[in-house]
Amino acid sequence: MKIAIVGLGYVGLPLSLQFARNGVEVIGLDVDARKVKSINAGRSYIAHIEAAGIRQMVQSGRLIASADFARVKEVEAVIICVPTPLNKNREPDLSYILNTGRSIAPHLRRGVLVVLESTTYPGTTDTELREVLEIGSGLEAGKDFHLAFSPEREDPSNPASRVAEIPKVVGGLTSGCRERAAALYGRAIRTLVPVSSCRAAEATKLLENIFRSVNIALVNELKVVYGVMGIDVWEVIEAAKTKPFGFMAFYPGPGLGGHCIPIDPFYLTWKAREYGQATRFIELAGEVNTAMPEHVVHRVMEVLNEARKPMNGSRVLVLGLAYKPNVDDDRESPSYRLLDLLKRRGAHVGYYDPHVPVIRPTREHAHWAGTKSVEWTRETVAGFDVVLIATAHEAVNYAELGEWAQVIVDTRNVMAGYPNAKARLHKA
Ligand SMILES: NC(=O)c1ccc[n+]([C@@H]2O[C@H](COP(=O)([O-])OP(=O)(O)OC[C@H]3O[C@@H](n4cnc5c(N)ncnc54)[C@H](O)[C@@H]3O)[C@@H](O)[C@H]2O)c1
Repeated sequence: MKIAIVGLGYVGLPLSLQFARNGVEVIGLDVDARKVKSINAGRSYIAHIEAAGIRQMVQSGRLIASADFARVKEVEAVIICVPTPLNKNREPDLSYILNTGRSIAPHLRRGVLVVLESTTYPGTTDTELREVLEIGSGLEAGKDFHLAFSPEREDPSNPASRVAEIPKVVGGLTSGCRERAAALYGRAIRTLVPVSSCRAAEATKLLENIFRSVNIALVNELKVVYGVMGIDVWEVIEAAKTKPFGFMAFYPGPGLGGHCIPIDPFYLTWKAREYGQATRFIELAGEVNTAMPEHVVHRVMEVLNEARKPMNGSRVLVLGLAYKPNVDDDRESPSYRLLDLLKRRGAHVGYYDPHVPVIRPTREHAHWAGTKSVEWTRETVAGFDVVLIATAHEAVNYAELGEWAQVIVDTRNVMAGYPNAKARLHKA
């Protein structure tokens, strides 16, 4: 069996490897020539994916990367894993999906299966994507070719998370489409969860991410409320967690980050408007979570004030630039917002992140591009008035931090494990 996977990013690359390991021939298609070159040379560009695994699959002949979409002619199935961001007005940007659709459509053969994996609002697969595929190919979906949606459930920083072990939801345009998609994924994934339609599958993914966004907002709100009451929300969550039913722990932080949780819920908000429906939980969670960086910076200001220091002119080190522990992924990271807010108030800011030695150029944070992580030495750390822990990477030596830093503002409760630290400890 030969398939094409379009978009060799955080989702598409591990999926390609998983199929290749299971004996499927995979052509990885990407518009980014550097990624294509890296894969064919057996190199990895994602920290948690080892080059050896890529090399092995490339050498076995089961994985090849290409920028030539005409190769879609060779395959039985095409899986699309391209980005679905929001545009500058915070509206869904389907351009990556639709451009992919336009690129593959002229090469689709009769009987081929096309599956979309990118997170999006219900209706994208059976309306927008279907339309570009049908126009470009002259074929009819559900009759001449199969069309399905199967959301991705990658958990990048979790070593226990194996693509093969994560159950996969599959919805098709017709029951035939769904069966074809289930047969495809059955080659590489142990448990499949068929649902009645592409829309149900699209809606499932949104429920999962909205659930996280709303619950994180709830604990963020409680963090502020309990904080004012002199109650430590972390202690409360640990206690609540002992309830053996009906409770699931979520943790507060400096704000939302990553490609999914801050973005995906607003795909539904946008679509719901077309139906005259309001999505109040999503909007409220968005508001609460977006206000977190301001709250944290305000705490830093209070802590400096206690030491009779103004923020203007103080030196603040943000610890952790990636949006979650143990990864190098800084997309939508609240650390950037913290750096911006601190700098706007006159603080001299630096960051330390063992996984992000230098800030890569991006459209959103162009002004930070080229900034380097400070060195991890006693002298450097002690030279900052405050260290603000934004991400709890395991590779950081917190015992040294507690020894070296003057003052620590901790948004992740990591310093709870170091009660004898010399630094003054505050939570935020
Ligand atoms: N990263 C995650 O943990 C995660 C989890 C769940 C869902 N998702 C969803 O999966 C989708 C992909 O996310 P990702 O994290 O892999 O993104 P990514 O940015 O890491 O990768 C996307 C890849 O697609 C390529 N690409 C863009 N336009 C293309 C085109 N027209 N043709 C071919 N290739 C193109 C890019 O060059 C890039 O390599 C998104 O919808 C995202 O919301 C991601």
